[in-house]
Amino acid sequence: MQELSGKTAVVTGAASGIGLAFTEAFAAQGMNVVMTDIEAGPLTVEAERIGQITEVLPLVVDVSKLDEIEAMHAATIERFGAAHVLCNNAGVGGGGNVADTEMDMWEWVLGVDLWGVIYGCKTFLPGMLEHGDGHIINTASICGQLAFGGNAPYNVAKFGVVALSETIAEETAGTGVSVSCLCPGFVATRIAESRRNLPEDMATAAPELTAEEEALRAMVLEQFALRKPPSEVADLVVNAILDDQFWIFTDDAFQPRMAERAESIQAGKGRPHIGPMAEAFFE
Ligand SMILES: NC(=O)c1ccc[n+]([C@@H]2O[C@H](COP(=O)([O-])OP(=O)(O)OC[C@H]3O[C@@H](n4cnc5c(N)ncnc54)[C@H](O)[C@@H]3O)[C@@H](O)[C@H]2O)c1
Repeated sequence: MQELSGKTAVVTGAASGIGLAFTEAFAAQGMNVVMTDIEAGPLTVEAERIGQITEVLPLVVDVSKLDEIEAMHAATIERFGAAHVLCNNAGVGGGGNVADTEMDMWEWVLGVDLWGVIYGCKTFLPGMLEHGDGHIINTASICGQLAFGGNAPYNVAKFGVVALSETIAEETAGTGVSVSCLCPGFVATRIAESRRNLPEDMATAAPELTAEEEALRAMVLEQFALRKPPSEVADLVVNAILDDQFWIFTDDAFQPRMAERAESIQAGKGRPHIGPMAEAFFE
């Protein structure tokens, strides 16, 4: 896609973090933006702010519900005529080890992080293919490349997003429609506070934290604030759309481990040990 001005971007998870930064970057390019999020309060505030810069359509959407994604698509077409860029970005973190993670936690994380992306692609791709114009950005994670311990549902969802994106790249070659797979490392957002997005009926997922867990949580939140600013990720994404680039990595820190993994696959050997997520975070 050579020109973004006057075109329309749809962003899920647009009220915070990386999705909000996408929205700001697209607005700066003169795009219309359909800002969608499950959190109505922050969405209203941010949409009003971005609405000073460009045309904004704010919509409360739960990406884990197909009918809400379909309604998001219909509202986009009705207001702007077409969706040129779709960012399947909404995501949550949750769960731990395979042996301990409750099934409703698996279902919540996969519902948002994988099914949400599948629903978005399935709903928006036909129109893009019909027009021979469109770019999909799927937000995966470095956890879609490296299966750290203690992060099971998130890893499974993000590996799924990588596979989905690679499949779409194969299937859309030569059609005028492109896809990018964003695999961020650690970015300064509210992802570590994903429990705020837990559905009300998830009884098992919100146990009281011990004092020790509470202290660790405070340390993680403090550390997250020091990580890469989301605006830098958004700049990479704008360039990937303009340059038709598939992979988007935000930093080099994980490349040696990815190379080791690739080598072990090529050699058909045992996989290298990469340790728990928490260790990688505090490296
Ligand atoms: N921050 C990081 O270090 C990091 C690293 C790798 C990947 N990611 C991915 O980046 C994406 C954006 O997350 P972020 O880091 O900006 O976190 P964030 O918590 O700041 O933003 C996520 C947004 O998604 C929204 N959301 C949650 N559940 C939703 C649902 N069911 N339907 C619609 N919206 C929903 C939240 O309300 C929030 O506005 C996620 O897919 C996340 O997995 C983040």
